[in-house]
Amino acid sequence: MKGRKKTRGNSARGTRLRNSQAPVFGPGPVSIRLNVNRQIMSTTAEPWLTLLQVLREKLELTGAKQVCDRATCGACTVIVNGKRVYACSILAIDVQDAEITTIESLASDGQLNPLQQAFVDADASQCGYCTSGFVMSATAFLAENPHPTLDELRKGMCGNLCRCGTYAGITEALLTVSQMRTLSRKKAHRG
Ligand code: FES
Ligand code: FES
Repeated sequence: MKGRKKTRGNSARGTRLRNSQAPVFGPGPVSIRLNVNRQIMSTTAEPWLTLLQVLREKLELTGAKQVCDRATCGACTVIVNGKRVYACSILAIDVQDAEITTIESLASDGQLNPLQQAFVDADASQCGYCTSGFVMSATAFLAENPHPTLDELRKGMCGNLCRCGTYAGITEALLTVSQMRTLSRKKAHRG
């Protein structure tokens, strides 16, 4: 094809524009390697698939949910390099060098982590569609702001929506975890 030069085999179907250094991949499947929950995972996927599609459909990590699919509800929230992102709105191929954390990494040995347990204790979910997104968003939010005021908490979590209206329980869960961390820090200081 005039103006293009093939740079990869048929499986990758990558091409490089003559006047640009930017490689162009696709439209067929290409090899993708992702660092998810401290594990390197390899798959093949079309370069236009979102991180959410690759997590759910290729890597069988279905904790992040597809609801609005347009960066509005937060149900698909995962953590990329310590920051909350809407996995429905970034391409998997663009985060191959990043550290990706999903809800599947939080529990260990069959035990929920304290934040997940606080959601259960505060009755902070009904249908549950938003819950994993809220938990991941809260994980990153509390890492950035371990002792938020109520106002900071509401603003900090405003990128996640719950259609069932469980906001009171979600707020209670976050405040509980924040208080638990304050208490354990005080205990540690007392020695
Ligand atoms: S599914 Fe990604 S923000 Fe709603
Ligand atoms: S618990 Fe149903 S959308 Fe939040």
